[in-house]
Amino acid sequence: MSIQKIYQYPDSVLRKKSEKIATFDNGLAKLVEDMAETMYDAPGIGLAAPQIGKSIKLIVVDISEDQEGEKKYMPLINPEIINHEGTQLDEEGCLSVPELTANVKRNLKVTVAYQDLQGQAHELSTEDRFAVVLQHEIDHLNGILFIDHLSPLKRSLYKKKVKKWLAK
Ligand code: NI
Repeated sequence: MSIQKIYQYPDSVLRKKSEKIATFDNGLAKLVEDMAETMYDAPGIGLAAPQIGKSIKLIVVDISEDQEGEKKYMPLINPEIINHEGTQLDEEGCLSVPELTANVKRNLKVTVAYQDLQGQAHELSTEDRFAVVLQHEIDHLNGILFIDHLSPLKRSLYKKKVKKWLAK
């Protein structure tokens, strides 16, 4: 296993639309392990393949029962939101968008269709915080960052901050 580099805004790899995964082999399983290790090292609760520079439809999300116990995660391959309901507002941050958290409006409940590491198709319905994580990570597969959901004013303030850091 190895920790991967996490690409950060404004890197263009974060804006690419990702490709569907068709091969379910050891390479994919190894990539999932690397992503989980990278996510927990950061630390984060979700990671999408584009964040480590791979434009493919793969996300890894934390499903640990509690903070102290054993870490559990699941990979979702080719995930797609097939149903959504209601709205919620919750604070989000992103390993690819440093030094910023903000409230984002999301759906309250989502149903996600995805495949597991063996290529088996599944559906998952969830709500609240876990629904936010899934929407955030699936956005990454479409080149969308949580800052895209903020007001133009908030977004431009953040862009200015990043420009200043990069100039240093
Ligand atoms: Ni993110």
